[in-house]
Amino acid sequence: MDQHSFVNARYASAPGSPIRELKRFSDLPGMISLAGGYPAPELMDAAGLQQIFGRFAPAEFGQALEYGGTEGAMALRVQLARLLSARGMAAEPADVLTLSGSQQGIDLLARTLLSPGDVVLVEAPTYPAALSAFRFAGASIHQVATDDEGLVIDAFEAALVRLKPKLLYTVPTFGNPSGRTLGEARRRALLELAVRHRCLVIEDDPYGDLYFDQPPPPALYSLRHAVDGADGIVTYLSSLSKTLAPGLRLGWMLGPPDVRRACVLAKQTDDMHASTLTQAAAAAYLAQGLFLEHLPRLRQAYAGRARALVRALREHLGERLRFIEPGGGMFVWARLPGVDTAQWLKSAIEHRVMFVPGAAFFAREPDPACFRLSFASQDEAGIAEGVARLAAALRAV
Ligand SMILES: Cc1ncc(COP(=O)(O)O)c(C=O)c1O
Repeated sequence: MDQHSFVNARYASAPGSPIRELKRFSDLPGMISLAGGYPAPELMDAAGLQQIFGRFAPAEFGQALEYGGTEGAMALRVQLARLLSARGMAAEPADVLTLSGSQQGIDLLARTLLSPGDVVLVEAPTYPAALSAFRFAGASIHQVATDDEGLVIDAFEAALVRLKPKLLYTVPTFGNPSGRTLGEARRRALLELAVRHRCLVIEDDPYGDLYFDQPPPPALYSLRHAVDGADGIVTYLSSLSKTLAPGLRLGWMLGPPDVRRACVLAKQTDDMHASTLTQAAAAAYLAQGLFLEHLPRLRQAYAGRARALVRALREHLGERLRFIEPGGGMFVWARLPGVDTAQWLKSAIEHRVMFVPGAAFFAREPDPACFRLSFASQDEAGIAEGVARLAAALRAV
């Protein structure tokens, strides 16, 4: 019997997030997940955060349970502006729009900037939840080629000329899923081209703080003053999810005032404001200097995990596998020529290990031989065992 659905056409036929839908397998007994970009709970400063929550004075706690302003609590915006200024992104607290995670920023931007048919450029490969947000907004999404250093500038220029896009969405630092980082010369070239072709740049940067040895090049947002006309064409998103805790659901946006204002209006009908409770806790955590103490520990632990993954991949999957060693972030993006990684995943789940096949990360023409591994949520022994299982699963395909 045909059932009438009340769901509109845009949502009725949309696939769910392939990564979030994999999450149900991660609960199988004995599963080693190298799939999600989930920070390791044991590496979070749970004790530090717990103390912060426990030490609120009653009046302060009451205030933190009240509704708040849409732009965010001033105490947190002050701390974020300080943090950003120390990273070369001079910002006043009033310039910071607090978000319920940076994912919300992508969604607000998609809703407020895009009309159906507008052209959006993304990297190939890119972050699937951004693709979904742009699809729901009715955008026409085109991908731009990348190499080991990220976005290929000639390909970007060709796409600007041919497609006249409204915006470029990019994760230029320790990209998800690529793990790659765009060099400074390319960053400047990207901005020059974006200015010349009037293309807004959305710089999504949740991983920049997670470098191992070398800090990454300056953010596009901070280079906008170095490139004539680039002020006003970069919108920057970042998050406390990967560095502090995703359950706080806190991120932020910097960008042109009219763009931020539109996002504030959209946020008013969305969640009104990010959680006042977690904003108050994060503000106190940052103000007490705990965040800057925590980061080096996190970087060191993830660097060890990344090295363990690279070692295990070389040992178990050998010469056939092509990937570049990450300098930060949470991911290794790899390619196994001749292998359909979606088939491999089915066998891998039977072997109690998971990864994400590459198809989900492409706007068009997916490469089935690519896949993403995360080294964030397993310890070094778990990573070694996980990769040994991956190799066994591959032999069984
Ligand atoms: C590139 C990228 N952008 C945004 C997000 C969303 O993060 P948040 O928890 O801040 O919403 C993620 C999370 O995986 C991500 O990888």
